[in-house]
Amino acid sequence: MPSLNDIRSTFLDFYAKNDHAVVDSSPLVPRNDPTLMFTNSGMVQFKNVFTGVEHRPYSRATTSQKCVRAGGKHNDLDNVGYTARHHTFFEMLGNFSFGDYFKEQAIPYAWDLITKEFGINKDRLLVTVYHTDDEAADIWKKYAGLPDDRIIRIPTNDNFWSMGPTGPCGPCTEIFYDHGDHIAGGPPGSPDEDGDRFIEIWNLVFMQFEQFEDGRREALPKPSIDTGMGLERVGALLQGKHDNYDTDLMRSLIEASAHATSVDPDGPGKVHHRVIADHLRSTSFLMADGVMPSNEGRGYVLRRIMRRAMRHAHLLGATEPLMHRLVPALVRQMGAHFPELGRAQSMIEETLRLEETRFKQTLDRGLHLLDDELARLPEGAALPGAAAFKLYDTYGFPLDLTQDALREKGRAVDIAGFDAAMQEQKAKARAAWSGSGETADAAIWFDLADKHGPTEFLGYDTEVAEGQILAIVKDGKPVDRAGLGARIAIVLNQTPFYAESGGQVGDSGEMKVEGGAARIIETRKSAGVFMHIAEITKGAIEVGQGAELVVDHARRSAIRANHSATHLLHEALRNALGTHVAQRGSLNADDRLRFDFSHTKAMSEAELAQVEAEVNDYIRQNTPVDTRIMSPDDARALGAQALFGEKYGDEVRVVSMGRERGSGKGADGMTYSLELCGGTHVRQTGDIGVLVVLGDSASAAGVRRIEALTGQAALDYLRAQERALSDIATSLKSPIADVPARVRIMMEERKALQNEVAQLRRELAMSGGGQAGVEMNEINGIPFIAQVLSGVSGKDLPALIDAHKARMGSGAVLLIADAGGKAAVAAGVTDDMTSRVSAVDLVKVAAAELGGKGGGGRPDMAQAGGADASNAEAAIKAAIAVMEG
Ligand code: ALA
Repeated sequence: MPSLNDIRSTFLDFYAKNDHAVVDSSPLVPRNDPTLMFTNSGMVQFKNVFTGVEHRPYSRATTSQKCVRAGGKHNDLDNVGYTARHHTFFEMLGNFSFGDYFKEQAIPYAWDLITKEFGINKDRLLVTVYHTDDEAADIWKKYAGLPDDRIIRIPTNDNFWSMGPTGPCGPCTEIFYDHGDHIAGGPPGSPDEDGDRFIEIWNLVFMQFEQFEDGRREALPKPSIDTGMGLERVGALLQGKHDNYDTDLMRSLIEASAHATSVDPDGPGKVHHRVIADHLRSTSFLMADGVMPSNEGRGYVLRRIMRRAMRHAHLLGATEPLMHRLVPALVRQMGAHFPELGRAQSMIEETLRLEETRFKQTLDRGLHLLDDELARLPEGAALPGAAAFKLYDTYGFPLDLTQDALREKGRAVDIAGFDAAMQEQKAKARAAWSGSGETADAAIWFDLADKHGPTEFLGYDTEVAEGQILAIVKDGKPVDRAGLGARIAIVLNQTPFYAESGGQVGDSGEMKVEGGAARIIETRKSAGVFMHIAEITKGAIEVGQGAELVVDHARRSAIRANHSATHLLHEALRNALGTHVAQRGSLNADDRLRFDFSHTKAMSEAELAQVEAEVNDYIRQNTPVDTRIMSPDDARALGAQALFGEKYGDEVRVVSMGRERGSGKGADGMTYSLELCGGTHVRQTGDIGVLVVLGDSASAAGVRRIEALTGQAALDYLRAQERALSDIATSLKSPIADVPARVRIMMEERKALQNEVAQLRRELAMSGGGQAGVEMNEINGIPFIAQVLSGVSGKDLPALIDAHKARMGSGAVLLIADAGGKAAVAAGVTDDMTSRVSAVDLVKVAAAELGGKGGGGRPDMAQAGGADASNAEAAIKAAIAVMEG
């Protein structure tokens, strides 16, 4: 009996033998389609190849594609567990022709594979074709020899396949297997076609058109082929089973669940085991592809699936978290073909464990509330919307989980009532927000958030993605379209652009649409809506268009490096200065980083050097930077640094980096830095390159600011420093190593020369030589000298006054020192004259003229400062006026 792994290989090998490139499954989050929640079929990764926008080095391909159908057009979540063939996760085997072969070849390949390679009995096969597709019917008749009554024409969309509301599409032909008349059900197209007797195993799509949002349907450049065969379905058939969950792979997961819970896999708990087995696959593969549980978008679908599984685990009586214990069984089964699963195994286990631990805290209470509500309701009545909303809001029960719980009891939920309660809560939040004092023009962002929900950020994993334009805001108002040169804010459903927050600046880059392009200058966000501030550089941009978004890689890399370095710096500061160091603010730009932290003293040179050296040690350690989502309490328990007083939501993102030997943080006690952070980071600490601390300064009371550079900016800075130093060395005609000693000596020489010059100036002043305005007058019978001394400092004046007084014997002297922009004035009066004139009075009036204030001293000697010596003449005149009485 072939295993599912064998069947997958047989399929891929068959097409490889027929010149098809074997291509890896693409991730579950489509990178090339903003309208699609998850990859839901094999053709998704080739969408742009079909439409001719993208070219690949092959025109035939085959894949086994991971698919999730749990949201959007193809959603199987509600039925999983209760039916034989619904899954949230499955593998789709497919072959593709991009304008190479068409129907004439696709049908024979399919027929040969299933009848020869797989050995399926021809007599049990029948097919459907689109009612107008004579060509396909003909090929089936001729090549497969099928009689007319086993080629059924279907006039409905069942035989016209489309990926979603837009994208490639075309008529299809489906192959069915007849399990025999012992099972109820009619052939496709008959009234009882939904029975289990005739099972579709393969869908061959003749890709011919592209569907546009405005209803247009245009021919593809070349007719192509896209086929999809569910591995689990064909596996069941080839293993002689009727139920996909009885195949070897699914069975092994069910048995792992049975083993872990000690509950019979085939007893009354059967449905629960099936749900768990299916959901284990979708949740693990989604996390391996970068989706993390959250309350929005894809992350919320993941959480819904997880919680649905967890309720079923609870129903099996599991008192401890169960899901994470089943991951090894899954990796054993599927890890060989999908290596990403093994790589992410520990992260998947930890996330499942934390998520289940947390949900368990409210699950019991929520289920009790549900029972109480049901007990009060009349037989068979639907659960009121308000109760379902309370379960959602207070106990974390997604609506579909409540519905799933009620399904067993044959009841429904009043969905309209649930929606109304949800709307009411939003209205309240809005009222609270409008009272919060934010500016009126921010109201538009709240409107957009209400209408479209928050923007989904893809930029942790990718810098290139497609998004759909939901709104364009120009001059504060929404517009449908904007033309060349316009400056606008663009809102998309999803984006790889990081919006400024948490100290990290927003991304810039480019955007392209059909017939237009724009430069994204910066990205901000308000009410969860990302605004791409842009200038249109080509054509025009319209609401509803799909846009290709490319983040400026070099700039983002520099920002990442600075942000990661800030985390290391934070830790190094705590080690060097003490655990009182807490973040008070930060800036992570592309050209520098700044970190404000609580600390009262300036950092010493030694401390700065220690911090810089420690950060660089961890950069060179070059270990991976790890990101997890968890509850704030779990994060704190692991030792995460959180901003004190900051409000955190239900879950936080925890970024950890650096390995320590013991006494560190994290589950293993070996993590160096562990912080709550929503920013983007380097993959490995080595990507930071190098860190150079520029210095520390005071930022506010009790807060210091450290500034630093990393990577290229740090090297540029060091190079500039080195150039300056070598310029100095050249001027000094001295080797760089001798520069410090040479400069010290020169500074000493300079000081000695300055002293000598001052001494000479004083002597010169005394001798009266070379100074302007020396005159000896007699005013009111008092001998008087007034002098302006340039290059003499104020502190030399008293000695000069004394010298003048001694020489004059009797009289008054006024000296004004002009020390380049600053002035000083001093006056002296010999003792015999102090009864007639006071030095204090002379200085006071002179200082007033010099723009100075006050002045003080004794009647025989006084001095004051001044702002400007250019008024010296007026100052002297004022003093003379005082003497004249
Ligand atoms: N894309 C086609 C399907 O999903 C083959 O059925």
